[in-house]
Amino acid sequence: MSDLAQRDTTVAIIGAGPSGLTLANLLRTAGIGCVVLERRSREYVEQRQRAGVLEHRAVRMFEEWGLADRVLRDSRVDGVQEFRVDGEPRFLPIAELAGGRFGRILPQQFLVQRLIGAFLENGGDLRFGCADVALDGLDTDRPAVTYRDGAGAAHRIVADYVAGCDGFHGVSRPAIPEDARTVYTYDHGIGWFTVLADVPPPRHPTFAVSEHGFAAHFPRGPRSSRFYLQCAPGEDLGAWTDERIFEQLRRRIGDPDLPVGAVLEKAVVDMRSFVVDPMSYGRLFLVGDAAHIITPMGGKGMNLALADAEVLARAVRSAVRDGDQRPLRDYSRVCLDRTWSYQEYSRWMTEMLHDSGDPATSGPFRHRIARARLNRLFTSANAGGLFAELMAGEA
Ligand code: APR
Repeated sequence: MSDLAQRDTTVAIIGAGPSGLTLANLLRTAGIGCVVLERRSREYVEQRQRAGVLEHRAVRMFEEWGLADRVLRDSRVDGVQEFRVDGEPRFLPIAELAGGRFGRILPQQFLVQRLIGAFLENGGDLRFGCADVALDGLDTDRPAVTYRDGAGAAHRIVADYVAGCDGFHGVSRPAIPEDARTVYTYDHGIGWFTVLADVPPPRHPTFAVSEHGFAAHFPRGPRSSRFYLQCAPGEDLGAWTDERIFEQLRRRIGDPDLPVGAVLEKAVVDMRSFVVDPMSYGRLFLVGDAAHIITPMGGKGMNLALADAEVLARAVRSAVRDGDQRPLRDYSRVCLDRTWSYQEYSRWMTEMLHDSGDPATSGPFRHRIARARLNRLFTSANAGGLFAELMAGEA
C-alpha cells in the first residue's frame, strides 16, 4: 500500500467551534484535505451564543482567504469605544488611534452558521454527533482519531496531522502526556453576570465605570444587547431577578431611561485565565480554547482562536505544498506570543475597569491608580494609541 493510501485525510480536526471551522475553511480554500469531527449536533453549535467582536486581524484574514463576502456580510463596523465614567460619556476613537484599523461586530452564531455553510458548499467533510472521540499515535507519523457515529458504528481516521479544536473541556489537550506540557492558570477573583436581552443595542460598545461596580453594554444583532455586570465569583443566579438586573444596569451605566426588555439568557462567568505550553505535541496541534482561556474582558477569546487557526493553516500549507516543516515547528511559539500579549491586555483592562469602580472593593490606593490609568487613555495619544492598537488587534 502506498504511503498516501494509508491515510484518510491530511488534517483531522476535532471540534466545530470558531477555531475548527475557520481552520477547515482555510485548508479547504488551500486545497488541503481535512475531516471535521464534532460531538454536538449542527443545530446546537449554530445556536450557541458567546462572543461577538471580530478584530481587524480577523477581518483581514477572511478578506485574504476570499471568505469575506460570505462570512462578514452585514457585520456592523464600529470604530469608537465609549467609556461611561460616573455616568459621563467619554469616547475613544479606536479606528483613528489605531491607524485606520478597527473590528466588526458579528455575533458568534452567525459566524459559525456561515462557516458551516461555506465549508459544506465547498464539499467539506463535517461530521456531527461524533461520540467517544479519542486520539492515538500522536508521536508517530500516522496519528489517528477514532470515534463512534450516531448509530454507534466505530470509525478510525488516519491523518498527517491532528488539530485539537475541541475547546477547554475537549479530549485533545489531555492526550498530551502531562510531563510534556506546562499549564499556567490565574483566577482574577471577579465574577461577571452576563445577560442577553431584547434591548436595543447601544450607539457604541460601552464600558461603564462607577462606584456601583463595572458594567458593559454591547450590541448583539439589530434588536438585542449583551450586558455584563461585575459580581462576586460563583454568585447565585437566583439572586438576579429581572428587576434587579435593570435597576443595576441603569445605575451603573448612568442611564435612567435604559429600556427594559425580555431577558433571553443569563449566566455567571468566573474570570479565569489558562494557557498550556507548548500548544503542540508530535503531530497534534491545539487551537483556540483547547490551548488557552482568556477572560471576556477585551473580547479576545474568539479572535485568538481564529488567529491560531490561520497560523496553523499556513503552516500546514507550507509543509504540504513546499515540504517546509519550519512553520509547524514554530506554531506553538508564534501563537503563544500573541496569547500572552492578549492575556496582558485583558488583565490590564480588567484591573483598570474594576479597580476604578467601588473603592470599598479595590481599596483607596488601587482605586486612584486605576482612575489615573483610565484618564491617561484620553490625555495621552500614546496611551490611547496602545489601547486602540490592542483592541483593533495586532497585525
Ligand atoms: N469531540 C468532538 N468535539 C468536541 C469534543 C469532543 N470530545 N469536545 C468538545 N468538542 C466540540 C464542542 O462541542 C465545540 O463545538 O469542540 C468545539 C469547541 O468549540 P469552542 O469551545 O467554541 O472552542 P473554539 O472553537 O476554540 O473557540 C473558542 O470562541 O466562543 C468563542 O470566545 C469564545 O474563546 C472562545 C472561542
